[in-house]
Amino acid sequence: MFTILVYKSRVHTDISPSDLYQLVKAASLKNAARDISGVLLFDGDYFFQYLEGPSDAIKSLYEIIVRDKRHRHVVKLMEDHSPTRRFGVWSMHAIDVNTLQGDDLNDILARGSSFPPANAGLPSHDRVLKMITAFASASWAENDASFEPDQWQFHLKPSQFDAVVNIKKSAPCQFAFQPILDPVSGTVASFEALIRSATGGPPSECFKGLSPEQLYLFDLESKQYAFELASQMNLGKCKISINLLPMSLVRVPNAVESLLTYITNFGFAPQQVIVEITEEESITNFEDFQMALTELRSAGISVAIDDFGAGFAGLTLLSRFQPEKLKIDRQIIEGIHHDGPKQAIVKAIIECAHSLGITIVAEGVETVEEWCWLESVGVDLFQGFLFAKPKLNGTPDINWPTLKAV
Ligand SMILES: Cc1cc2nc3c(=O)[nH]c(=O)nc-3n(C[C@H](O)[C@H](O)[C@H](O)COP(=O)(O)O)c2cc1C
Repeated sequence: MFTILVYKSRVHTDISPSDLYQLVKAASLKNAARDISGVLLFDGDYFFQYLEGPSDAIKSLYEIIVRDKRHRHVVKLMEDHSPTRRFGVWSMHAIDVNTLQGDDLNDILARGSSFPPANAGLPSHDRVLKMITAFASASWAENDASFEPDQWQFHLKPSQFDAVVNIKKSAPCQFAFQPILDPVSGTVASFEALIRSATGGPPSECFKGLSPEQLYLFDLESKQYAFELASQMNLGKCKISINLLPMSLVRVPNAVESLLTYITNFGFAPQQVIVEITEEESITNFEDFQMALTELRSAGISVAIDDFGAGFAGLTLLSRFQPEKLKIDRQIIEGIHHDGPKQAIVKAIIECAHSLGITIVAEGVETVEEWCWLESVGVDLFQGFLFAKPKLNGTPDINWPTLKAV
């Protein structure tokens, strides 16, 4: 069994044909000694490399390659296993795709291929062949290269909304507030109110031991404390996001009416409120849920699908109703700057959402590299520790990015 690994990267500094020749010559010798074979494609701006060989050798070589200063934005496209080698006759063959014409690439790949039956060439459905063809046809160029992580610096700005709040001793829960923002324009789009236990502990403590019916009721009723706290924070016209289980809207009688009462009792307008639907469980009665959505929207409340891509919050839900906002789950965001499959998925989600007029929010953004990649492909809003951690009973200071002076 062989481990196979495919990545793409971007040239860092100019590489002359002779530099490339030297790189390939040295690499060929090293790969042969490590029993690694593969192919390297280059188009003047980007590299695409396919490597195959023993698992440990591939893993340690990839660690070395990622650190090589001659390229950057190294994105792993595939790591898999194969019973046979594809390019066993090439310890490292380099192809400059700019000098290729017509079917040259296929001819070259067929010559290099050791795919059984012996040297028959890669079958047309082969995933690696499809990736190579996509690279050679330049369909992989980055969308926008203007967001480079090392161009940005961060400055902590004290919260303009913070105030001393009065915490009700009898309240069964508290809330921590975290901004959802547009880092480039320096604006906060909304604050998400995240539930905490009465002593400030994690959400699981609040819901412990509740039956499903009690849970839905608590889920809804707890939101009045969120609005009560928010009303003391000088939020002005800033929006507030709250989380609700979809079934809380269905199973609690007059749920939307109650929600509207909480909102207006504390001096907010329904247009200031976004209900984030966290679909941890499937929606069993979609017609009733749809009716609740109609009520929410008729009242002027916006809706977001939370944790999109996790649990039940997926394409079926999106096909049945289109929210104002789609929040991409943190698990998809984590490490996206070097993860090819995650990048392909997020690009497709953005294209789909924007064509439907839906705003995209990336949640759980923790590094400048993740943020820059997400900005470059058109994510609209951001939430995460990179900018601000949730603050219990208050709004946190925000770390805003600015371009470094050149
Ligand atoms: C795009 C690219 C592809 C590379 N591919 C290989 C490779 O297949 N095998 C290899 O040994 N080195 C490869 N290198 C070079 C390694 O990153 C690294 O410079 C080299 O292995 C250093 O070896 P040393 O630490 O023994 O000097 C590549 C470098 C770049 C920029």
